[in-house]
Amino acid sequence: MTETLNNPTRQALLPALKLGPITVDTPVVLAPMAGITNTAFRRLCREYGGGLYVNEMVTARALVERRPESLRIIKHEPDEVPRSVQLYSVDPVTTGHAVRMLVEEDRADHIDLNFGCPVPKVTRKGGGSALPWKIRLFESIVATAVREASRANIPVTVKMRKGVDDDHLTYREAGRVARDSGVAAVALHGRTARQHYSGQADWDAIRRLRDSLPDLPVLGNGDIWCAEDAVRMVEQTGVDGVVVGRGCQGRPWLFGDLQAAFEGREDRYRPGVEMVCRTLLHHAQLLIPYFDGDERKAMQDIRKHVAWYFKGYPVGSALRTQLVTVESLQQLQDLLGQLDQSLGYPGEAAEGPRGRAGSPKKVHLPQDWLASQELNADQQEMIQAAEVDISGG
Ligand SMILES: Cc1cc2nc3c(=O)[nH]c(=O)nc-3n(C[C@H](O)[C@H](O)[C@H](O)COP(=O)(O)O)c2cc1C
Repeated sequence: MTETLNNPTRQALLPALKLGPITVDTPVVLAPMAGITNTAFRRLCREYGGGLYVNEMVTARALVERRPESLRIIKHEPDEVPRSVQLYSVDPVTTGHAVRMLVEEDRADHIDLNFGCPVPKVTRKGGGSALPWKIRLFESIVATAVREASRANIPVTVKMRKGVDDDHLTYREAGRVARDSGVAAVALHGRTARQHYSGQADWDAIRRLRDSLPDLPVLGNGDIWCAEDAVRMVEQTGVDGVVVGRGCQGRPWLFGDLQAAFEGREDRYRPGVEMVCRTLLHHAQLLIPYFDGDERKAMQDIRKHVAWYFKGYPVGSALRTQLVTVESLQQLQDLLGQLDQSLGYPGEAAEGPRGRAGSPKKVHLPQDWLASQELNADQQEMIQAAEVDISGG
């Protein structure tokens, strides 16, 4: 802040993002990622830069049933403000109960609704990215969430994909309906469910949504791998903020780069091996309290981050293998100690896409789902029973 004041030539790329009563100075959102964006990872990211840090999605039904894992997922650290929770739900009644619970128990300052998940166990039940196709059901869920949340002036946002596939695009209608239902913003991941994580995110669709909703903040999501990508997305689409997922896996300092870029600065993190090791170890340490002191669980969890942290760094395959089977914090520390800490940033090799990719996939849907945008009797019945044991984005 002082820097910006002292240097009037630096121009902020965008104004602060306003979500109801919440002001996000750096209009950057950490995308909710199941199994990744827990309190430990969010803390790491927050240490580098400003933004809105959304937790992993939680199933409305499981939350209402107070399942321990769901209560763990929605935990926030005392200094985490605003407290952001993403809900997954396929039915308005359960949505209403879950939002009421969050409001009455003062467990969130912002609620995001997940309409983007493409995984078969979700879409097969009509949830995630399959749901906006049933536009009246979508409207009912969103309106219920907004109504319940408004009792405590808590903003609700919607995160969605372009649609089920290219022949069943939903984002523009869903965007309009969400706006008319009173959401504070919509975020669009520029892929269809069928694309899964393949190909490239369609930033033109993001621009079209931005243009079609002039009176609502629109956030763009998909394929931001570095701060320059975020700047390009803002310039090409006119979005009010960006949502960043896979790009920060193994790179929480990306949020420092993003803040710099949004403040018009050019400094970027170029971490050498020492910083990567220190961050990975810190991440592992933070996971222990997240798993209530269970070091083994924390180590199991950190394993999936290893390849992301060391993408492009000269770490031999034998050591990588040991790192991804690590059993204790001490062992992790010892293994990291074997690396030459003086090695610098490897450049290009550490940049670019990371995390999920793959090819387009058949979208598993309830029977006759695409035949009509209204629910038939069977689908109605299925929706009411659907919301169990779902996680993943
Ligand atoms: C491992 C993983 C878990 C995810 N979990 C969720 C989730 O819980 N809720 C959600 O809305 N999206 C989820 N997503 C989708 C991301 O939020 C984001 O929309 C997507 O990765 C595209 O953004 P990116 O190109 O910046 O990664 C997940 C993605 C990944 C890779």
